[in-house]
Amino acid sequence: VFRWKKTIYKTVCLSFLLVITVTVLQRGMAPSQFMQGQQQKELPPPEPLKTQKRDNSFSITSTFWKSKKEKAPVKEEESVTAKQAKSWDVTTTNCSANQNFSKVDWFKGLEPNFQQFLLYRHCRYFPMLINHPEKCSGDVYLLIVVKSIITQHDRREAIRRTWGQEKEVEGKRIRTLFLLGTASKEEERANYQKLLDYENHIYGDILQWDFLDSFFNLTLKEVHFLKWLNIYCDNVHFIFKGDDDVFVSPSNILEFLEDKKEGEDLFVGDVLYKAKPIRKKENKYYIPSALYNKSNYPPYAGGGGFIMDGPLAKRLHKTSETLELYPIDDVFLGMCLEVLKVSPVGHEGFKTFGIVKNKNSKMNKEPCFFRSMLVVHKLLPPELLQMWDLVHSNLTCSRKLNVL
Ligand SMILES: *[C@@H]1O[C@H](CO)[C@@H](O)[C@H](O)[C@H]1NC(C)=O
Ligand SMILES: *[C@@H]1O[C@H](CO)[C@@H](O)[C@H](O)[C@H]1NC(C)=O
Ligand SMILES: *[C@@H]1O[C@H](CO)[C@@H](O)[C@H](O)[C@H]1NC(C)=O
Ligand SMILES: *[C@@H]1O[C@H](CO)[C@@H](O)[C@H](O)[C@H]1NC(C)=O
Ligand SMILES: *[C@@H]1O[C@H](CO)[C@@H](O)[C@H](O)[C@H]1NC(C)=O
Repeated sequence: VFRWKKTIYKTVCLSFLLVITVTVLQRGMAPSQFMQGQQQKELPPPEPLKTQKRDNSFSITSTFWKSKKEKAPVKEEESVTAKQAKSWDVTTTNCSANQNFSKVDWFKGLEPNFQQFLLYRHCRYFPMLINHPEKCSGDVYLLIVVKSIITQHDRREAIRRTWGQEKEVEGKRIRTLFLLGTASKEEERANYQKLLDYENHIYGDILQWDFLDSFFNLTLKEVHFLKWLNIYCDNVHFIFKGDDDVFVSPSNILEFLEDKKEGEDLFVGDVLYKAKPIRKKENKYYIPSALYNKSNYPPYAGGGGFIMDGPLAKRLHKTSETLELYPIDDVFLGMCLEVLKVSPVGHEGFKTFGIVKNKNSKMNKEPCFFRSMLVVHKLLPPELLQMWDLVHSNLTCSRKLNVL
């Protein structure tokens, strides 16, 4: 097993080196320049990686997702917000396990991961390891943020080449950021961190905080992002937040947002109503009743991909600080929305819980279907790249295609 691990590790390192080499070549830099650049701290944002060929890929081709109602007249921006020079204010980690649980009986009966969660639940914010204060300054129309983990650079790479491309469409700036914690396995930490630093040096699109990237810490990622946004995003209109293994159509998102205004509490995605906490211990989403004893969750949008408006996100930040952390991040946001009395809105174009029941259905690989959606789970890098090209090729969608 050790040898096998070593091979995988080698492969990953080699492919990452290849990515760096290709990038360096594409950007016409000498490798030495690249290394020298390490010394400078603040880099200008790198140019988009992709060739010109795909530049029209965001042009809006159909009006499928436009809602039918009349456009309201756009109000003049009165953004006279007092400019505070704020920055991330958490610089040390000083958080010890909560000893209060040591005497509690029900705590001892819990699974280790829940014990771990409860022991550190009160640790709210951690220092930033990689920050990009410049990324969100000024006017950003759509901020794309992607939950990612340190080992999955291939997913980030595929996203940068497809739906995460930064650009400006009809004067609307689109910016992309990846949200990361630290490697959850000790043996991964040192080497992967180095690779991540290089990756960030090249692309400048990583935000990293000093907490373990574990499943139960996803809610930490959520609250850290909201706090970051509150500090660094002067004027972001809309935010798309999602996983790193989904297909997203930015052009459909832009079209969908055309008649939306920030400030009207937009929160849209694949919404679950009256979902029940899962009580089967084998399930990834199992929740002991000691942690949540109501029979239903408030309505929430699946974390695979959803859209919210900027002002609502800032209110969510304030609300999140009044609630105890909950181990499932999308449910936690649902709890915050409930406090704010904002109902998340379900939309047909978000398929984050699967497309059809039958996993072998042709629908899962049907580009015409993908072309008309906003978010579809779940595509890994090779599939994503392939589907992206198909969707942006000369598709004839009147008849059923049998492409893959
Ligand atoms: C960390 O917190 C403990 C208890 O809250 C306190 O006694 C200690 O001085 C703190 N250490 C630092 C470095 O802030
Ligand atoms: C532990 O319990 C005490 C007393 O109830 C409380 O003041 C304190 O905040 C608790 N500690 C944590 C970390 O929750
Ligand atoms: C979350 O991250 C913190 C900081 O790294 C760590 O102490 C804690 O154990 C993690 N929690 C879980 C449930 O993994
Ligand atoms: C649920 O938990 C709350 C707070 O922990 C408690 O006050 C309440 O009695 C519990 N309800 C049930 C039905 O167990
Ligand atoms: C798509 O179709 C147009 C016109 O029908 C043609 O000019 C173009 O070359 C085609 N593009 C591709 C990639 O096939």
